[in-house]
Amino acid sequence: MSVNHAADRAAGPDLGELRRRAAAAARPEREEGLIVCENLVRIYQTEGVEVQALQGLDLAVARGEMVAVIGASGSGKSTLLGILSGQDVPTAGSAEVAGHDLLAMKRRDRLAYRRGTVGFVWQQTARNLLPYLTAVENVMLPMSYTKVKRAKRRARAEELLDLLGVADCRDRGPGELSGGEQQRVAIAVANANEPRVLFADEPTGELDTATSEEIFAALRRANEDLGVTVVVVTHDALVSEQVQRTVRIRNGRTSTEVLRGVTTGQDGVEELTAEEYAVLDRNGRLQLPSEFTERLHMRRRVRLALESDHIGVWPDEAARQARADADSGAGTDEGQEGER
Ligand SMILES: Nc1ncnc2c1ncn2[C@@H]1O[C@H](COP(=O)(O)OP(=O)(O)OP(=O)(O)O)[C@@H](O)[C@H]1O
Ligand SMILES: [Mg+2]
Repeated sequence: MSVNHAADRAAGPDLGELRRRAAAAARPEREEGLIVCENLVRIYQTEGVEVQALQGLDLAVARGEMVAVIGASGSGKSTLLGILSGQDVPTAGSAEVAGHDLLAMKRRDRLAYRRGTVGFVWQQTARNLLPYLTAVENVMLPMSYTKVKRAKRRARAEELLDLLGVADCRDRGPGELSGGEQQRVAIAVANANEPRVLFADEPTGELDTATSEEIFAALRRANEDLGVTVVVVTHDALVSEQVQRTVRIRNGRTSTEVLRGVTTGQDGVEELTAEEYAVLDRNGRLQLPSEFTERLHMRRRVRLALESDHIGVWPDEAARQARADADSGAGTDEGQEGER
């Protein structure tokens, strides 16, 4: 939300009007969640070359959730966030956020959506704030599209800065703030218009570990105290371990999820648990982790067997043997279970 404010402001009607138009265009929120993507595809065309950045991605995020998105470089994380935040349009599939159909959205609805329904924090600290405004002015800026009175704007901006632990930075410009402070101010800016969802693309990418934890704590505070749903892309294992759900993207598709929770043992001691799940889409498609398939030489096809409480997945024996022979004795007699 923070970038191009000046340009946006010059262009358009106020946020109240935009919100009314957007509300007229929005459908009721989906039962499956605040964010629902099905079979989402984004193909980039550059000089005749096609890049399939998203290849049928499925994702559902419930209202109030805080989800971390992880995955190798180039797996499609930023592409996904760009689409969900209304900056980019998918090639095919479906994507809905807070009742807004991101494929059908008209241009002016998209503008209202970007200003009012979502907030965004970029990795590059400099991209999030305008350098010639103070912290509090930066937070007030997105409210200038709204009918909120100027005095109220300031009060809300100050409240947000206070909530995020940077009240003392109020009257300083970004150039007079540390990277961590800038990112916390950026989170305040992104929350200025009470968005439904806050997206952050590697917000701690340029920061050291201790500072990253502060940023993460600020995101969590926004999630818990402001009730905003948070989707954060991160490379930082420490960060992803602190959320209840981590979604991994591989080759433009969601492949696995880790769900974390607390269980109480027989001795009454609470224990943190983390369990990894593979994502099963509506068509029954499942992506097996490459560590599993490579280890068992699974290529192109596998044998399946339905057991009473699980599905067994076995390598195609002929292909496996040929491959093992080719590896000239390097093969091992690994176990058979590759299912999940
Ligand atoms: N504007 C674009 N034009 C062409 N190809 C693009 C564009 N943006 C992204 N891509 C390609 O799409 C794929 C996914 O890119 P994306 O930026 O979503 O990855 P990422 O998971 O965010 O990676 P990183 O961790 O490095 O930020 C990559 O192959 C990338 O080269
Ligand atoms: Mg990226």
